[in-house]
Amino acid sequence: MNPAFPSLQNDLLLRTLAGQTVERPPVWMMRQAGRYLPDYRALQAQYPFFTRVQTPELATQITVMPIDQIGPDAAIIFSDILVVLQALGVEVLMETGSGPSIPQPVRSAAAAKAIQSRPENIAKLSYVMEALTMTRMALNGRVPLIGFAGAPWTLFCYLIEGKGSKTFDTAKAFAFQEPESAQHLLSVITDLTIDYLNAQIQAGAQVVQVFDSWAGLLSPAQFEQWALPYLQAIVSNIQGAPVILFAKGSWYALSEMAQTGAAALGIDWTTSAAFARAAVGSFICLQGNFDPANLLAPIPEVILATREMLDSFGNDLYIANLGHGILPNVPPDHARAFVDTVKAWEGVV
Ligand code: CP3
Repeated sequence: MNPAFPSLQNDLLLRTLAGQTVERPPVWMMRQAGRYLPDYRALQAQYPFFTRVQTPELATQITVMPIDQIGPDAAIIFSDILVVLQALGVEVLMETGSGPSIPQPVRSAAAAKAIQSRPENIAKLSYVMEALTMTRMALNGRVPLIGFAGAPWTLFCYLIEGKGSKTFDTAKAFAFQEPESAQHLLSVITDLTIDYLNAQIQAGAQVVQVFDSWAGLLSPAQFEQWALPYLQAIVSNIQGAPVILFAKGSWYALSEMAQTGAAALGIDWTTSAAFARAAVGSFICLQGNFDPANLLAPIPEVILATREMLDSFGNDLYIANLGHGILPNVPPDHARAFVDTVKAWEGVV
């Protein structure tokens, strides 16, 4: 750890991830640094997406915004999972409104082979490490800082499909038709992700989360082939910080993921606390799982639904969060009601 970092005042998240008994569960929200905040939209109008991501001063400012305005117990660095594809030499564009696009997606064995692990890849991500160090200083020990990366399967989906999709069937077809190329790409992404997450920890990330946003498109057998071995390699090779694995929609693989050595597993709102706890055993943390759309309910209902969530998970080994990213049309007051309800919770009655 860099001894120059200010000491941490709110260590609820770190104590929870270490399996300790806590006064109340910590709370943060996936995509908490984003479009539902008016100040973020002002910066969005001023700078293109990847300028915001690649400028450490802007990334720091955006990361700290929800800490000042909403009050969660952790910050998550403002960046994107797709920067890893850029570091592998792939052009990625982000158009506000239409999402990411890759002008030349990988569609052949030759194109797959051109993507290689190279020592210089990680250097292309040095701006993320600068942003993490700068953010640690700016947070001044108020809350811990979370770093993140996309899971290999999810990045593979974008790399082949070239854009967002409900089914990613081009990516799945490629994996079926060119299994060796798929394995090569997943391995190259895994190697870079291990270096990237360890570099994030060196630069100041105190926790790291791996987002497997499209794992829910896989059957249990496909998950074992295309997702789990790479998630396992990542968790096994991360040093110096606890890992949270969030494989959205993969309730069927919770017990396998609990064996990886991850400190916590994220779940979405289609999985109940009781189901997840029974699947993972009593030592690992669970994180989630408020339906992001439920934040659009009137505030009194947000409060009731948040309390129900807390009652179902209980106090320990639990990180209150949404079941996926916050939606852009959530009024900040509603996000605050969610966070405040967790902070005021006094345990299962
Ligand atoms: O959580 C945070 O506050 C940190 C910031 C963060 C962003 N992207 C910023 C962002 C994180 C953790 C991500 C991860 C990410 N990016 C994921 C995994 C999480 C998930 O939601 O499943 C994925 C799949 C992506 C890829 C991506 N980036 C898509 C599909 C899109 C467009 C759709 C959308 O939600 O807007 C983005 C753009 C993006 N990344 C925005 C933000 C704030 C919105 C665009 C903008 O601000 O101009």
